Amino acid sequence: MNAQAFTRWQDYKFGMFIHWGLYALLERGEWVMFKEQIDVDEYRKLSDDFHAESFDPNIWAETAKAAGMKYMVLTSRHHDGFSLFDSPSSFGAFTSMHAACKRDIVAAYTRACREAGLGVGLYYSPMDWRFPGFFAPKMYAKSAQAMKEQCHGQIDELMSNYGKIDILWYDGGNDCWLAHARDIRHQGEVQYTRENPQCPNFWDGDRLDELVRTKQPEILINERIGAMNHADFYISEGKVGKYNFAQPWESCFTLAGAWGYCKGATPTPLRECVQMLIQTVVGGGNLLLNVGPRPDGRIEDNQVARLKEIGEWLKAFGESVYSTRGGPIQPDRWGGTTWSNNILYVHILHWFENSIRIPRPSASVLSCISLTGSEVSITEEGEWVTLSVPPEDRQAIDTIIKLEIDDDVGNAYKSMQITTE
Ligand code: GLC
Repeated sequence: MNAQAFTRWQDYKFGMFIHWGLYALLERGEWVMFKEQIDVDEYRKLSDDFHAESFDPNIWAETAKAAGMKYMVLTSRHHDGFSLFDSPSSFGAFTSMHAACKRDIVAAYTRACREAGLGVGLYYSPMDWRFPGFFAPKMYAKSAQAMKEQCHGQIDELMSNYGKIDILWYDGGNDCWLAHARDIRHQGEVQYTRENPQCPNFWDGDRLDELVRTKQPEILINERIGAMNHADFYISEGKVGKYNFAQPWESCFTLAGAWGYCKGATPTPLRECVQMLIQTVVGGGNLLLNVGPRPDGRIEDNQVARLKEIGEWLKAFGESVYSTRGGPIQPDRWGGTTWSNNILYVHILHWFENSIRIPRPSASVLSCISLTGSEVSITEEGEWVTLSVPPEDRQAIDTIIKLEIDDDVGNAYKSMQITTE
């Protein structure tokens, strides 16, 4: 792993996940083809209606920036097999170039990310529901092989044709995903069964990994391809990951409804969004928050509005988030800490008691203020520091207390730190 690229990624903290594809037209999330057992040829017809008339990745990038996000990850291809890029390897030329919009969405997106100074991430699903070989890799060995070749070809295209890619976000490539459709009827008559869920290293993740890293030496790759031991970071889907510095991680959540567009879905309340971010950051992770744009490419107004609110919050309190590191104090029910050089930020998300107690640093505390300018009471006694602010100054989202310490925080809490070494 490239150390500089990794530090950059750790500094991002907050990114935008974008699930967009033909499924948006059906307005019922990205699993609609599978869940409703839509015939492959029927589903393909959706591409005639995929006009993407309001698709403007510069607006996506602006929205991400307004939310305080530092990187984006776009579904270049989801499990339905539809590619948002010009892909000669795509089985049956099932791509946005052959859809009504006739555009290379990934090309426009990667350009927009870079222009906006955002990290460029691509999501890619090796599995593809159009292949019987996905559901029964042994019974349909040729189909499984063709699906795998498609994957290697497409990864090569994505890594070769779109300039520098910062993040490759695989999904569904861990072996337990093969044949996930046990006992579900697919494509009419054929009953697919789970054959060999362990099917070792089906995707040849290690070979893929080598290809990707040769073409993109600075890229960071998640673990969802089954290339054991090679992942740069791990995904905690739908929940905040555990405090962990030995294994870099990212939590992903969706802002409204499913990952793909769901008409009328209500965005998560602001408090929950920000608290999710803080819980992630105090535990050492990044947060990737998902939007599912409408079929025309626009993100719903109420989601944009929520993202802007998060951005406003970050504008005021971002110094306690960006470029900090999680810990060194283990998160607790009340919240947790972040730090940078000799500054320790204490994030109090819930006031169960009138004060909170943190371990005392080995160096003295030089100053102690709250980021909202309220009065902080501090008592240092024995092994502990007790902190409190008057009830009327406690924030509904996060009361942040900033302690300046007479040493690097990492040193001052050395014995408590979980390090990567
Ligand atoms: C799951 C789902 C998928 C979504 C992803 C995001 O793996 O299959 O629809 O893209 O999670 O984490």
